[in-house]
Order: sequence, then structure tokens, then C-alpha cells
Amino acid sequence: MKVLVVVASRHGATFELAQLVTSCLDSALTRTGIRAHVELADADEVTSLLDVDAVVLGSAVYFGHWLSSAHHFVDKHRSELALRPLWLFSSGPIDDPRAIEVATPADSLGARSHHVFGGRLHASDLSWSERTVVRALGVSDVDLRQLGDVTDWTTHIAATLAHEFPATTPSGRHSVAPGVTDEELLP
Ligand SMILES: Cc1cc2nc3c(=O)[nH]c(=O)nc-3n(C[C@H](O)[C@H](O)[C@H](O)COP(=O)(O)O)c2cc1C
Repeated sequence: MKVLVVVASRHGATFELAQLVTSCLDSALTRTGIRAHVELADADEVTSLLDVDAVVLGSAVYFGHWLSSAHHFVDKHRSELALRPLWLFSSGPIDDPRAIEVATPADSLGARSHHVFGGRLHASDLSWSERTVVRALGVSDVDLRQLGDVTDWTTHIAATLAHEFPATTPSGRHSVAPGVTDEELLP
């Protein structure tokens, strides 16, 4: 089976999370005995979901909203997404991730779950206008992304897929660079 992890990121923190989701999901599916091909793609780059069995879609959150490339991806593939198991994640909160609810363009598509991961903020990555906002809010550099959150969530996804796709055949590749461990992807 093929699982596509699709991501929209502005400054790289959500992309790194998506790399970790890809790697952890691949490992979790292998542990369940499922032979899966888990691939990572930027939301801008996906042209078709025809050969995809399940989708994990995530975006950074800015001013309460997903990024426009995630909106465009959902608009473009709405009917294909509605026919496939779908999981959503957001990366944003730089205080308490449990404290926010993020509305997404995919909310009407019957996603299995929507997980909100903590965000990362490095003032040096930001544009001048973003830095102005962050400074006005008095927010300091922070990284609330947690490896444990990712492994728990992807283990749950793998268990669901193992139940729904019990007899799948091998294909073997995923897009996280060979030799990069889960621990190296997040600080
Ligand atoms: C200008 C600005 C606005 C933001 N607005 C929100 C927001 O409304 N809600 C939220 O949870 N996080 C917000 N964040 C935090 C980002 O979502 C977080 O830093 C995220 O991890 C960035 O992901 P990226 O590096 O993939 O773009 C904001 C950050 C900046 C710089």
C-alpha cells in the first residue's frame, strides 16, 4: 500500500515534523507487518492521488489558519481525499498545543483525526513583518515539537491501516534520507 504524507510549511518546522511522521509511520507499519511505501510530498507538488491508498496532511498555522498551499491542495484533490483514509495535523502553538482548535479546509472530509503538534519559532528565520508581530507579542525562540507525540500518533495510524489493509504487498521506499534517524530530525 502507499501512504502519502503531504505538508505545507513556511519556515521548515512543519516540514521537519512531516519528515518525522513519514519515518515513524514507515517504522510503525513495518512493525505491524504491513508492507507499505510511505512517501513525503510538498502540498504544492502533488498532481494526483490515484496510486495513493491513504493520506496524512499537515500544515503550519499562521494567524489561526493553515497555509494557502494546504488550502489549494484540498481544493484540488477534494473528491480523491473524500474516498481515502485521511489524517490531519497542524503545527503551530508555541505555548500549550492542547489549548487550541484549528479549523482546516479538510474538516468536512471525514478525517480520522486531527492532531495539533507544538510549533517552533526562531526569530532569525522570520520575515521583518513576522518578527514585528512576534516581538509585539513578547514571544521568545521556542521549539515544542515532541518526538513522543509523533510516535504515539503514527503508531495509532499504523494500527488503523493494518486493520483496514490487512493484505498488502511490498514496495519499500520512503523519502526520508537514508541514514537519518528519527532522533536527528528533531532537536
Ligand atoms: C507571524 C506568526 C503568526 C503565527 N500565528 C500562529 C497562530 O495563529 N496559531 C498558532 O498556533 N501558531 C502560530 N504561529 C506559530 C507557527 O505556526 C509555528 O512557529 C510553526 O511551527 C511554524 O511552522 P513552519 O516553520 O513550518 O512555517 C505563528 C508564527 C508566526 C511567526
